[in-house]
Amino acid sequence: MGIWSKKSIAALKAEASASEGGLKRTLGALNLTLLGIGAIIGAGIFVLTGTAAANFAGPGVSLSFVLAGLACLFAGLCYAEFASMIPIAGSAYTYSYATMGEAVAWFIGWNLVLEYLFAASTVAVGWSGYFSALLAELGMHIPAAFASAPLTVEGGHNVVRAFTCVNPATGAPLVDAATGAAFAAREACTAGGGEVVNGLINLPAVALVLALTVLLVRGVQESATVNNIVVAIKMTIVLLVIGFGFAYINTDNWTPFIPEMVTNPDGSTKYGMAGVLRAAPVVFFAYIGFDAVSTAAQEAKNPQRDLPIGMIASLLICTVLYILMSLVMTGLAPYTRLGVPHPVSEAIAAVPQLKWLEFLVNIGAVAGLSSVVLVMLMGQPRIFYTMSRDGLLPKVFSKVHPKYQTPAASTWIVGMIALVIAGFFPLGLLGELVSGGTLAAFATVCIGVLVLRQRSPELERPFRTPLVPLVPLLGAGATLYMMYQLPKLTWTLLAGWTAVGMSIYFLYGMRNSTIGKTEGKR
Ligand code: ALA
Repeated sequence: MGIWSKKSIAALKAEASASEGGLKRTLGALNLTLLGIGAIIGAGIFVLTGTAAANFAGPGVSLSFVLAGLACLFAGLCYAEFASMIPIAGSAYTYSYATMGEAVAWFIGWNLVLEYLFAASTVAVGWSGYFSALLAELGMHIPAAFASAPLTVEGGHNVVRAFTCVNPATGAPLVDAATGAAFAAREACTAGGGEVVNGLINLPAVALVLALTVLLVRGVQESATVNNIVVAIKMTIVLLVIGFGFAYINTDNWTPFIPEMVTNPDGSTKYGMAGVLRAAPVVFFAYIGFDAVSTAAQEAKNPQRDLPIGMIASLLICTVLYILMSLVMTGLAPYTRLGVPHPVSEAIAAVPQLKWLEFLVNIGAVAGLSSVVLVMLMGQPRIFYTMSRDGLLPKVFSKVHPKYQTPAASTWIVGMIALVIAGFFPLGLLGELVSGGTLAAFATVCIGVLVLRQRSPELERPFRTPLVPLVPLLGAGATLYMMYQLPKLTWTLLAGWTAVGMSIYFLYGMRNSTIGKTEGKR
């Protein structure tokens, strides 16, 4: 009873078919795979690869991609079993409600907020970096104070005041002529003839979130066709960078492939094999989104067969692309130069023959990243909607706008929170928080497969996770290990986030839960 109440699989299946009249089943395996790729390729590969290479792993970041990709594959195989059994839109939240009870389901739902809402803000910040670079190519400069959050993360763990070094005459960002990299210290900027401008707010990121929220409230459907076009643009750009980039790789940049470990002034370390492991949860962010395929469960023509295909295929394709892309980026430019908001253009800029690609990369990133933000901002109100229908959140979250037929109030609430986060917080910090929350959800799904196989072995499983218990155990182990690699600051924030979430559950959700009320009456 109470916090351990579970939703029965039969009830969930009934819910899935009851809503069949409302949602159109139009998506096949190909569209689902493209939907996955649309949600996966974003700030992770376009931005965090650079941060992870410069701060932690050097060219060894491609090994971090292999590790994070393997962990996702194990978790993906577990997701696929659930998605084929319970084809309903609540994703990991619903799976936990069926296996581990209400309190765990709430905990996962609360972590999915980190995955969706916070990821929307994070990718919006990444978008802003490329958008500013695109405008700069066209000779326009957003005043530096309004293009950056007030804070940044130094060396991957210290939160400090953010600044940009600009050319006092033009306002354009200035780089260190000797290294080609952004100035790391204020004094060096001034000595190099630049002007230090403190960051106030990331206005482009705020504007993007606001615009997309308005669109979503108005009922803009992320139609499969629009998504397919954006995916085609993203994939073309990534393949162009890989294809042309490989020809200009300077293998000196790969030597040593895993730079020797260095101790930071504060005692922490970077590089070495430890750096490769440390970078894995950072680049894990790049894989987030394959599970968003499962939220389209009620729009899939043949969910039992096609959801597993969509998730695993999109994951495999992106893993290969990411490993190649990170090899090319670290091969084109020294990894020390890649810790910038737009590292793919930075890598390309190191080779004059690839100058023509720079503009295309910026266009591809601006289009591609905005679609990730859109999918995330669309997914979050849908999960809140399911949680509100279960009584765990106030009814306002499941209110549907009479004219636009969208969860308008919920979309606005999500949009406004995402907007504030995008405007004031730095990418490095947000990215790891998103990874932490998502890793917790993935680990729970892996353990959930084991629990349900034990408890209800007789249930029909159209897709079965192979090699049980090995694959779920490896999935849970790898995701928990990556969580362990996260810095203390992220853990503190995750603990605070969980404490707030559980307080809301005990004060509100537990008392208002629909299942709890039904059980109480029995
Ligand atoms: N995987 C998505 C991205 O990298 C969230 O933007």
